[in-house]
Amino acid sequence: MEEKIVYDFDTAISRSGTNAEKYEARQRFFGKADVEPFWVADMDLPSPEFLVDALHARIVHPMFGYTEQYADVFESIQWWMQHEHQAAVEFKQLSLSPSVVTSISMAIQAFSEPGDTVALLSPVYGPFYSCTKLNHRKVADCPLRVEQGKFEIDFLTLEQQLARPEVKLLLFCNPQNPGGRAWSFQCLELVVEMCAKHGVILFSDEIHCDIVFPPHRHHSVLNIPAADDMAVVAHSIGKTFNTSGLQSSFTIIKNAELRSRFRTAQERSHAGDINLLGKVALEHALSPKGAEYKKQLVAYIHENTRQVCERLQQIDGLLVMPPEATFLVWSDFRAFGDWQTVFRKLIQEANVALSGGTFFGPAGEGWFRINCAHPRALLLPAVERIAASF
Ligand SMILES: Cc1ncc(COP(=O)(O)O)c(C=O)c1O
Repeated sequence: MEEKIVYDFDTAISRSGTNAEKYEARQRFFGKADVEPFWVADMDLPSPEFLVDALHARIVHPMFGYTEQYADVFESIQWWMQHEHQAAVEFKQLSLSPSVVTSISMAIQAFSEPGDTVALLSPVYGPFYSCTKLNHRKVADCPLRVEQGKFEIDFLTLEQQLARPEVKLLLFCNPQNPGGRAWSFQCLELVVEMCAKHGVILFSDEIHCDIVFPPHRHHSVLNIPAADDMAVVAHSIGKTFNTSGLQSSFTIIKNAELRSRFRTAQERSHAGDINLLGKVALEHALSPKGAEYKKQLVAYIHENTRQVCERLQQIDGLLVMPPEATFLVWSDFRAFGDWQTVFRKLIQEANVALSGGTFFGPAGEGWFRINCAHPRALLLPAVERIAASF
């Protein structure tokens, strides 16, 4: 029997010399090159060794030319979706994509026209807005409500927005970034029902779906039969395996006509393929070894988020949203002044760089997001400094 690997997430590994955006862009975004970075949503935790070995094995060969979309990649995706998310997918339903954001843009182009409107539930990951606007579509915002410290969908507003004839697409974040909500099956069913009723295509961004903390679980739109004819589901190994720089993502579209429209948009932008190391990474990450890594990673991150929330909740006036999923903790600092004042204090006094809430739309103003996918020995002192500053 193979020996079980115990992954080490505690040892800090320097990213110096790797041009990591989280580090290199600190001067540009925070005006301080040595502020400790807990912003960009990638992990300061290592990819598993078996995956690094697979990439090594490939780069030994000195030719990096055009590479087929070979069957092992699709088999791995199919295995992962079935094993980890109980979703049966067929090869023909899969399209590779360099990134989830690329897929968002392709979906906007495939399922709406310039001047149409795209709905979203804010606050939400910034490119939901920017892709919509850059594609000359309007945004129909359905702000989430904070109830008992959690985001809830305002279904009345959502239905009003979806009922507008110019709304063609709903960009849905499942699990939710920045709030870490793992939407319930009933909630998803309602979203699907409303989209179907009003002829709106549902784009479910499920990039964070592997990192969900028990007793919560991820419910994929793929498991709602009523969504089969109106949904695009996007996933990636970027978050789970810390491979965002390899750009390896995919979509699952069950309906043949929607798939064809999506692929036409991809072809128009020559965006229907991924680089060869991305293929190698997909093939090897989405495997039984990857599932074991993921299990240990989720346990580590869960404990990180638990300890971070416990400490932040002791700060008077701070509202903290304990996540059910994702490695992100979203907190409301509005009691401490305008967001610029808080931003400066976080950098200058606490020496931490967090993601500012306005990146997630107007509803995020005054909130900040802390990335907890860091070795605990670096993360917890940073949280102590935040507590000391507020
Ligand atoms: C909800 C969500 N979607 C997409 C992305 C980016 O994914 P990609 O790098 O595959 O475009 C992120 C990254 O933080 C995210 O949080």
